[in-house]
Amino acid sequence: MKTLIVLNFKTYSESTGEKAVRMAKYCEEVSKESGVDIIACPQIPDIYRVACSVKIPVFAQHIDAAGAGSYTGHITAECVKAAGAAGTLINHSERRLLLSDVDSAIQAAKKAGLKTIVCTNNVAVTSAAAALSPDFVAIEPPELIGSGIPVSKANPDIVSGSVSAVEVVNPRVKVLCGAGISTGDDMAAALRLGAAGVLLASGVIKAKDPKAALFDLVGKL
Ligand code: G3P
Repeated sequence: MKTLIVLNFKTYSESTGEKAVRMAKYCEEVSKESGVDIIACPQIPDIYRVACSVKIPVFAQHIDAAGAGSYTGHITAECVKAAGAAGTLINHSERRLLLSDVDSAIQAAKKAGLKTIVCTNNVAVTSAAAALSPDFVAIEPPELIGSGIPVSKANPDIVSGSVSAVEVVNPRVKVLCGAGISTGDDMAAALRLGAAGVLLASGVIKAKDPKAALFDLVGKL
């Protein structure tokens, strides 16, 4: 299985609007040169412009459980797919859903042909998420998000524990980890723990030179 990097643009101004396109182009260049798969997750209104500008996969940061119809202000799987997204994050710690809504969102995403990454905050939630059969779960301890302290070094047990839990519950699901990841060492440590890749944001988005940060990330593979 190929190593995967998922870059969450969050709502950082460094990765909003035209800057989202520039950030996605860095991802594309580094992916092309390194051979590592990189997915860009811009804000939802930026999906269309980013997807029109790069060939790497673009994922939404969130979808709602709502389907098509009499709903206002919701983000549907169908709409992000039509905008050019190939997949979506679901239940990010900064955009949590009820478990029943996580299930509905996964079903809606599958119906629309979107890949799914369900974010989890501990091993028990990882098990619950894996039972819903997303393509990936991404374990991210909330207290380490944006801290610069890598989960793969600060809390290796939560990563290896998630990998073991998923093997028991639903071995087809792949495990990513995130929070505080920023260097090639952090990334290599995540892979040694059994993760298929990483989900990260600030280490690249807030870096002085995001392209160099991405190259550093893939440098130890
Ligand atoms: O979705 C990625 C995330 O929550 C981790 O954020 O800034 O710690 O890489 P960060």
